[in-house]
Amino acid sequence: LNKKEVEITFIRHDGSRVKAKGKVGESFLDVVVNNSISLEGYGACEGTLTCSTCHLIFAQADFDQLPDKPEGEEGDMLELARGVTDTSRLGCQVFLTESMDGIEVNVPENVFRRYCQKATKGKF
Ligand code: FES
Repeated sequence: LNKKEVEITFIRHDGSRVKAKGKVGESFLDVVVNNSISLEGYGACEGTLTCSTCHLIFAQADFDQLPDKPEGEEGDMLELARGVTDTSRLGCQVFLTESMDGIEVNVPENVFRRYCQKATKGKF
């Protein structure tokens, strides 16, 4: 059975936008990886909740529609993200639903992400 595709627009901190498609049930991190989107060291820990480099900022209305809230380990890790906001999430912990089709998310500048990229010699 083919899962429904959802279109997402990632907005980098410099204002450039990149559109990508993902399938329902995938995380935002999966979408970045599967589409080889170039985002400075995004998702350095590969979704194991040990980095915060996958920080995304949602519009308030979209954030309110998300099926869950950043709690527990995600909340703890988010606190370490630079420039965290009330509508921040970790992209490896948010999974696509059909109603997210056409959603736009902001990818904040992330000094820690740069550091990770350096430390891993740009592997991620
Ligand atoms: Fe590291 Fe999400 S990829 S916490």
